[in-house]
Amino acid sequence: MCGIVAYVGPKDAAPILLEGLQRLEYRGYDSAGLAVVNRGLKVRKVKGRVADLAAAVPARFKGGLGIGHTRWATHGAPSDVNAHPHLDGAERIAVVHNGILENADEIRAKLVADGVDFVSETDTEVLAHLIARAVKETGTLADAVRTALKAVVGTYGIAVVDAERPGEVVVARNGSPIVIGIGEKEMFAASDVAALVRYTRQVVHLEDGELAVLKADGFHTFTMDARETAKVPLTVDWDAGHYDTGGYEHYLLKEINEQPETVARTLRGRIDDRFHIAHLGGLNLTPHETRAFRRVKIIGCGSAYYSGQIGAQLIEELARIPADAEPASEFRYRNPVVEHDTLYVAISQSGETYDTLAAVQELKRKGGRVLGIVNTVGSAIARECDGGIYLHAGPEVSVASTKAFTSTAVAFALLALHFGRVHDLSPADGRRICEGLRRLPEQIREILGREEEIAALARKYADRPSMMFVGRVRGYPVAREGAQKLKEISYVHAEAYPASELKHGPLALIGPDMPTVAVVPDDELLDKNLTTLGEIRARGGQVLMVGHRMAEAKLADDCIVVPKNEVELDPILLTIPLQLFAYHAAVALGRDVDKPRNLAKSVTVE
Ligand code: G6P
Repeated sequence: MCGIVAYVGPKDAAPILLEGLQRLEYRGYDSAGLAVVNRGLKVRKVKGRVADLAAAVPARFKGGLGIGHTRWATHGAPSDVNAHPHLDGAERIAVVHNGILENADEIRAKLVADGVDFVSETDTEVLAHLIARAVKETGTLADAVRTALKAVVGTYGIAVVDAERPGEVVVARNGSPIVIGIGEKEMFAASDVAALVRYTRQVVHLEDGELAVLKADGFHTFTMDARETAKVPLTVDWDAGHYDTGGYEHYLLKEINEQPETVARTLRGRIDDRFHIAHLGGLNLTPHETRAFRRVKIIGCGSAYYSGQIGAQLIEELARIPADAEPASEFRYRNPVVEHDTLYVAISQSGETYDTLAAVQELKRKGGRVLGIVNTVGSAIARECDGGIYLHAGPEVSVASTKAFTSTAVAFALLALHFGRVHDLSPADGRRICEGLRRLPEQIREILGREEEIAALARKYADRPSMMFVGRVRGYPVAREGAQKLKEISYVHAEAYPASELKHGPLALIGPDMPTVAVVPDDELLDKNLTTLGEIRARGGQVLMVGHRMAEAKLADDCIVVPKNEVELDPILLTIPLQLFAYHAAVALGRDVDKPRNLAKSVTVE
């Protein structure tokens, strides 16, 4: 979605805003803009990337107060005019906004009837006009922003400056994140700590319905009814180095290669060899409460949802508790039945995905118990849940998720082990899983060592218009995630199907133009999977097999052999070659790997 940055302090705001926007570009990248206050407002905005904006900002663009924005269009096409900040007619107020105002058309019609001229097609511009009107009456910018926000319905993270108040910026949050950064005689705000860590590690997250006034020497927060709120700053343990490509050509490749370390971090300190159990301090569940759950329902969006499918299988296999995963976006709209003996688990890398957050809020409203499996410490979803597991995977910058996916699956393995050992999983099986988990980082390293072989296969298949991905039971979520990676970064059409369903329809598509990636773990379904390979090849389809058994490779046209772990944990390893496959297919096709078209990393709107 869109990214926001704000600065107030003794330095020139523009370079700080541009640097911050670069860090936020993963959130949206169709246009960018900034405004600084220096005897009036100075504004630059362009359709394009942050680099295009940087080129458009003149050297003398001075001013110690400013706001910036990188956009992912919702209302109005990407254009210079629709780029933020948006101003009122007198060019006194400038607003940057992340989110969607649902009643913007209605407000716009009223304002137009009152003689207000609009220059853009955006929903945001109504806010600039509303605040400009209110500020004349209320006297303070904070009150004017509150008044304007009371008139709108929808989601927002906003930052506002007033040319007549060069010392303060007002920010507000409802559904779209705002993080305040506390510096030495300077203050920052942004949609994500990524934009702040170069300057400060002391941050404060705004809650929904909260606003803040930032001045160089401090800040204060308050509610929509002007009641002051108390905030305790958090220290972020990610530093600016985490946001560099670290010598890799793309963030995605860096993040794929980080997985031996990130998986180890998710596991660190959480395996107990004495009882063969997992220590998960943040669950906030007694063994007694754990035993009372009769079902587990997992929700998340995109890759988080697919990792949830792996999680559901792990919980069913190891704990024998019925579990299933569902897209959070579907779940929240179908008026779900919330049961007291179901444990709900919400998954999110960013911790800010709006559909997942809204589903958690709906669950909480109905009295559901929700755990979060989240990467970003202190994020909205993490704060909303009753307990959970942090991934500790470090920031994931590339839009397509890789290391957060594997760490989530690992977190689920720990959760399933914990639940299993509270129920009937034997110590021997507990030990088998603990040992399997410990082997993962080294085995991931082994797969990464075969990157060239996988890259050659990716180049071989990249020119096909379409690819089928199939897997059975444990292989199916892996196939879904493999197809997701390929389509999102290479734009090659990819469909995932349970291998068993092929004959019920999609087999009609199989032919020389539609190769199949078959995920074939060495488990009790191996023979059935091998039969599927035969069916595909009998119809002239090429097969790239990703599996464990070299001997079976002759049944496929190509094969990537992956080290074997315990059957329950194999899906984690089988995912890695498909990440590399998608990456190298995207590179071969010349795609913008880290910022695929039409997508954003953190989807903070519905
Ligand atoms: C977006 C991203 C996906 C991600 C999904 C959920 O669609 O492009 O890569 O899987 O959001 O994000 P979350 O931060 O909630 O895991």
